[in-house]
Amino acid sequence: MERENFGSRFGVLVAMAGSAIGLGNLWRFPYLVGSYGGAAFIFVYIFCVFLLCLPIFISEVTIGRRSHSNAFGAFKKLAPGTKWKWLGAVSVVTPVIVVSYYSVVGGWSVEYFLKAVTLEFTTGMSRSEMGMMFGKFISSVWSPLIGHTIFLLLTAFIVISGVKSGIEKFGKIMMPLLFVLIIVIAVRAATLPGAGEGLKYLFQPDFSKIDASVCAAALGQAFFSLSLGVGTILTYGSYVKKDENIIASSTYTASADFIFALLASCAIMPAVFAFGLNPQEGPGLVFETLPFIFSNMPLGWLVAILFFLALIVAALTSSISLYEVGVAYLVEEKKYSRRGASILIFVIAWVLGCLCSLSFGPLADLKIFGQTIFNLFDKVSANILMPVGGLLLVIFVGWVMKRADVIDEMTNGGRLKGNLWISGFVYFLIRYICPLAVVAVFLSALIF
Ligand code: PHE
Repeated sequence: MERENFGSRFGVLVAMAGSAIGLGNLWRFPYLVGSYGGAAFIFVYIFCVFLLCLPIFISEVTIGRRSHSNAFGAFKKLAPGTKWKWLGAVSVVTPVIVVSYYSVVGGWSVEYFLKAVTLEFTTGMSRSEMGMMFGKFISSVWSPLIGHTIFLLLTAFIVISGVKSGIEKFGKIMMPLLFVLIIVIAVRAATLPGAGEGLKYLFQPDFSKIDASVCAAALGQAFFSLSLGVGTILTYGSYVKKDENIIASSTYTASADFIFALLASCAIMPAVFAFGLNPQEGPGLVFETLPFIFSNMPLGWLVAILFFLALIVAALTSSISLYEVGVAYLVEEKKYSRRGASILIFVIAWVLGCLCSLSFGPLADLKIFGQTIFNLFDKVSANILMPVGGLLLVIFVGWVMKRADVIDEMTNGGRLKGNLWISGFVYFLIRYICPLAVVAVFLSALIF
């Protein structure tokens, strides 16, 4: 059977940006900015994204396009008979773990979107009542499970439709919509009386706040936000046609992801300051603080609907990229049909996701290594599997693949003349700087 490709340059871009832009931008980035000192965190984050993670992103696309295979098959093809196939195996398992807890939070977004549509946030509840409402919701049994199921079904449905007519088509419609939504919300937030303090917090860095923990958090977030180290960008890279410029597409994707994260912060922080609330709210920022703000601001009901719609769309385009990794593996290596593979991944991710969801309620006391199941999945994947996966991947491209092959892939066999010197520089970053810096940042976070 002919292997599918993304149909157009714009298609590649929206699919990759769709994977990168997700809950990481709307939910995780703003609360990390709040917890790690505002502009100083953003400053470090810029270095992490463009100097360290962008080369890793290009490495993943390079492996994918060179091998024209799924995450497992790629290493078998490029380094036959070696232990690298184990990296391929981990790259197939990790996204299934991530999609299972990701779709639980996706399910919360579905529930909060419905609450926004039915005008539940317009009653002028207090901040603590909002907190209680969220706590009661996630610790209950059925509502979050229903949300999780709906979200995962939507994901499966898009993936079953195929790479071009499912993933690419969905991205082409939804990604532009997403940018429009977030810009509208950011403009509304930035024009609230008292919003200036929030903008200052985002754009005036206090460099004394930078320490090892800020660097580690920024690098971890950059990995998460660019979808690195879990086989997704590799798999999408394998659908990129041979005449695409992979350095350019990767740079556009990283830039779009960064701009979106900034816009999301501009949509949230000014409002937090305008209402005199604490920016260091942590993970509850989006589901507790924001609904409180929405319920108290002019036109808040409409902003709430738009915001939670954006959250669902952003989360969906990311979860389909996670889902596709396992499907591509099952179809190509195990000869499943696309539908059969999607159903199998659905069942595994649904069961694991149910356990994650229940770990806020009935299974709250079940602790593994001192963590609830949800936290364990989140911590192990974001703090260990993704950075270690990304590190090994970049070592693979920098030290196992031949330099000539890597440069060949980045310059389309020398035809992209403009990429000739830049690919040498990117290769230098991939071979020396990225592995060293990633190890240094994580070791320093462990030691200090
Ligand atoms: N990048 C996505 C986000 O920011 C999350 C993700 C991680 C998606 C890993 C795919 C792979 O929400």
